[in-house]
Amino acid sequence: MASSDGRSAASIVHSLPRRYGAIGARSRHPKRVLVRVENISKQYRLDDQLVPALNSVNLNIEQGVFMAIAGPSGSGKSTLLNLIGCIDTPTSGRIFIGDQDVSSKSPDQLASLRARTIGFIFQTFNLLPVLSAEENVEYPLLQFKELSVAERQQRVQRYLEVVGLSEYARHRPNQLSGGQRQRVAIASCASCAGSIGKRAQRSYSRRMTSA
Ligand SMILES: Nc1ncnc2c1ncn2[C@@H]1O[C@H](COP(=O)(O)OP(=O)(O)O)[C@@H](O)[C@H]1O
Ligand SMILES: [Mg+2]
Repeated sequence: MASSDGRSAASIVHSLPRRYGAIGARSRHPKRVLVRVENISKQYRLDDQLVPALNSVNLNIEQGVFMAIAGPSGSGKSTLLNLIGCIDTPTSGRIFIGDQDVSSKSPDQLASLRARTIGFIFQTFNLLPVLSAEENVEYPLLQFKELSVAERQQRVQRYLEVVGLSEYARHRPNQLSGGQRQRVAIASCASCAGSIGKRAQRSYSRRMTSA
């Protein structure tokens, strides 16, 4: 993914139009930038070679925007998502999540920021097969020591309700359909995440109630 002239990587990044659903709708604060990528480059070291994956990429993601990153295999999509998701760090350039510059944070600081700010829904959902739907949603919340047991369980039930799965709380993943498993993953993601996940949760809630 290259943008040596300083423009954003617009050729592979598209904001989906409103008709793709409520998640794509504009928020009441459309100008708040949640993710700011400034001139980032990433090179991987492979034996004695440097493999360029991203070259001077700029990108702003505003609150309330649903964005898809598309491009050919090997063009740097996963690399960019790993950097925005604080899983990896750039070789050069800066990334802001909200107001925080994450480019120079330690792995522990990044892990904490990731847990509280960014929600991931993995392609294969990554649910634990031995846990029920509600336990799968509860599990990542155990790291938040500031939550009491009652608050944690309340949050689990609230997010299962948001995705319409209250009746399936005791079901294990293999007792759920693919779509239901996906909804457990969404509930899990939204119940942990801060600004990014919460927006998705509100939009999802609107979509569920208007469907
Ligand atoms: N861990 C790695 N070590 C070395 N090269 C890598 C690594 N991960 C990705 N690459 C290279 O970086 C480039 C971008 O990869 P990637 O971000 O996975 O692309 P995409 O997700 O768009 O298919 C590719 O040339 C790939 O071979
Ligand atoms: Mg990829």
